[in-house]
Amino acid sequence: MCGIVAYIGPKQAYPILIKGLHRLEYRGYDSAGVAILNSELNLYKTHGKVNDLEEAVKGKDLTGTIGIAHTRWATHGEPNDVNAHPHFSYSKNLAIIHNGIIENYAPLKQELLKRGYVFESETDTEVLIHLIEDIQLNESVALEEALQIALNQVVGAYAIVIINKHEPDKLVVARKGSPLVIGIGEKEFFVASDATPIVEYTRDVVYLNDEEIAVINRNGDFKIRTISNIEKTPYIQTLEINLSALEKEGFEHFMLKEIYEQPKSIRDSMRGRLIVQKGVVSLGGISEYKQKMVNAKRIIIVACGTSWHAGIVGEYLIEELTRIPVEIEYASEFRYRNPIIYEDDIVIAISQSGETADTLAAIELAKSKGATIIGICNVVGSSIARATHAGSYTHAGPEIGVASTKAFTSQVTILTLMALMIAEAKGTISQSRYHQLITELDTIPSKVEKTLLVNDKIIELAKIFKDSRNALYLGRGYNYPVAMEGALKLKEISYIHAEGYPAAEMKHGPIALIDEEMPVVIIATNKGTYKKVISNIQEVKARKGKIIAIITEGDETVKELADHYIEVPETEEMLVPLIATIPLQLLSYHIAVMRGCNVDQPRNLAKSVTVE
Ligand code: G6P
Repeated sequence: MCGIVAYIGPKQAYPILIKGLHRLEYRGYDSAGVAILNSELNLYKTHGKVNDLEEAVKGKDLTGTIGIAHTRWATHGEPNDVNAHPHFSYSKNLAIIHNGIIENYAPLKQELLKRGYVFESETDTEVLIHLIEDIQLNESVALEEALQIALNQVVGAYAIVIINKHEPDKLVVARKGSPLVIGIGEKEFFVASDATPIVEYTRDVVYLNDEEIAVINRNGDFKIRTISNIEKTPYIQTLEINLSALEKEGFEHFMLKEIYEQPKSIRDSMRGRLIVQKGVVSLGGISEYKQKMVNAKRIIIVACGTSWHAGIVGEYLIEELTRIPVEIEYASEFRYRNPIIYEDDIVIAISQSGETADTLAAIELAKSKGATIIGICNVVGSSIARATHAGSYTHAGPEIGVASTKAFTSQVTILTLMALMIAEAKGTISQSRYHQLITELDTIPSKVEKTLLVNDKIIELAKIFKDSRNALYLGRGYNYPVAMEGALKLKEISYIHAEGYPAAEMKHGPIALIDEEMPVVIIATNKGTYKKVISNIQEVKARKGKIIAIITEGDETVKELADHYIEVPETEEMLVPLIATIPLQLLSYHIAVMRGCNVDQPRNLAKSVTVE
């Protein structure tokens, strides 16, 4: 949460910073600001989005070749002009941008108040910059040394950049727990929360590690030290992001683009890993740990949000195919409930961003107990990807819409490959069934493509249901997590209250909500508990609920029963989530658009949740 971007070099900083903020806006968008140094350190900030900042700075002095900028997701202090970043130090010689939380800001602030400091904002960040300046002045040390001393007093997470009015050729950067990447160009540097603001200028990047401070000089000099003063050699990596992946490419919203990308993103997740003709499923990134997974007595999956829903599909898949017991946990619960973790446990951490603070903490906990951690991440080089012992990237490409879509189907794809790979090695699946499943998995991208043709019909449904105040999503077996994911999508972006429920559990509570105004989305594909789901449909019908059924192509029985239906191609029961999720994504998308909601940036949400 919060996006930071900085520039130093020969070019004008402002256009680079603003473009960078737009790219990072998915990380938070309640206020934004920029500080640019020429002979003055000019700082402008406002509540609202990056567009509002652009309006607010019209006519202002924006010249300068060094600057910092920030888009915020509020933690301490409401989103307003004063709490927006950057924050000045007391003398206004320093300005800081910060992503993260200084947990012990209150005692630090008390100490500074006693010494006569005055605070303009309610933020933890302002405390940090006052502290740094206080140390700089009292100890007569350089900014980077003052920062080093300050960070040894700080508890919490940070990705920060500091600019000093009296040092126009230098940026000072540090990171712990929040992501930060430095782009290295020709005598110019770019700093950002992720690589998206950097990729169009340079492909050479350094991912800063926790507790590292980088001092960046305009002359090309670039040094890294830890907060314990150990010098580090920068490890330069090459980015592989395709620039067009960061643009809407003709779609009205990133979310719609990403929904439509799914035939490709699922195929990209399988590329080189599923070779049907040879009967091979191979996840190179975890091959070293394959035998350990085969021998595992238990697998624990940790994740948050949509990734947690993918994890439930994973639980069902792995248990069914490998007969290894699986537990799926919300990372935020797991980390604090003193769970039992054995040394021979395999923990699978799923995260699109690779930065979710709770998932990262769950990993650290499991690691400290000796478990083996396998990651499923989308963002290459992310904190979670680096914290795990091994893993498989989903290769879905950048996901920019805050509501996750293609990341979900890619995560499920990887989990399917993982389950098949273990099952085959373990001998818990017959060769003929294995071949049947991999052959079918290979057809999923084209079936997703076909599923997307339901879009027009979904638009008509969205018109009917856009003014609903509640919605219920029901599914059983593999379709239960699909129901939860459908409900999450609707509430996230359209602000309609929705619940996803196991269809049979409905009668233990949610059935009381059903009346003639209540849309009930039922995933009733023709496998597994199909017949039981038909009974659940009857129960809803008897209470006059409006049934929207997701059915297998040509299923006349449910067509007859449902008020509305959407047909999807037939597939194996365990692969249905990859297909049945698509119409639910489209339904929430169109309802949200019709309600005038900001689909790509829903209120109060952020895509990368780096606070617990
Ligand atoms: C946020 C996002 C969700 C995402 C969740 C977990 O809530 O808005 O879309 O599913 O975080 O994020 P992760 O990056 O760990 O998958």
